[in-house]
Amino acid sequence: MTFFEKFNEQMNFELESAFIYRTMAAYVAEQDMDGFEHFFNLQVQEEVMHSDDFKNTLQRLGQPVKYRPLDPGNGEFEGFLDVFKKALEHEKLVSSKIKELYEESLNQPERYATVFLQKYLDEQVEEEETFTKIVTQLERINGNWTGLYQLNALLGRRAE
Ligand SMILES: [Fe+2]
Ligand SMILES: [Fe+2]
Repeated sequence: MTFFEKFNEQMNFELESAFIYRTMAAYVAEQDMDGFEHFFNLQVQEEVMHSDDFKNTLQRLGQPVKYRPLDPGNGEFEGFLDVFKKALEHEKLVSSKIKELYEESLNQPERYATVFLQKYLDEQVEEEETFTKIVTQLERINGNWTGLYQLNALLGRRAE
C-alpha cells in the first residue's frame, strides 16, 4: 500500500469507528442509559468529522477518495464496563494506526500530511485519556446502580 492508500484507509477506519460507536450507543440505549447513549452519539459525530477531515485532506492533495464497506463488529457486549473497555481498546488501535501513518508521512516530499497527522497524535492522547478515565470509574462503581446513574448523568452532560 502506498502512503496515500493508507491515508485513505484511515479515512475509512474513522468512519468504521463511527459505525462501531453506533452499536455501542444502541446497546446502552436498549438499557435506558440515556446519558451513555448521548456520549456515544457525540462520539459518532466526532469520528464522522475525523473521516471527513481525512477525506478533505486527500482531495486537497489531489489524491483519490475510495470508500469501502464498513464492519460494525458483532455489537455484542457484556455490560457497561465491557462496552467502555472495548471502546478504549478500539482507540488504542486507532492510535497505533495514526502513529504508523505519521512515521510514514516523514518520508513524503512535502510536510502537509505530517502537520495534519500531528493533530491526530494529540487527539488520540485525549481519546485514550477519556476512555481510560471512564473505565477506571466503572471499575470502582463495580456494578452499583447509584454509581452507574451518577456516571450516566455526568456523561449525559457531554457538550462536544
Ligand atoms: Fe477518530
Ligand atoms: Fe476516536
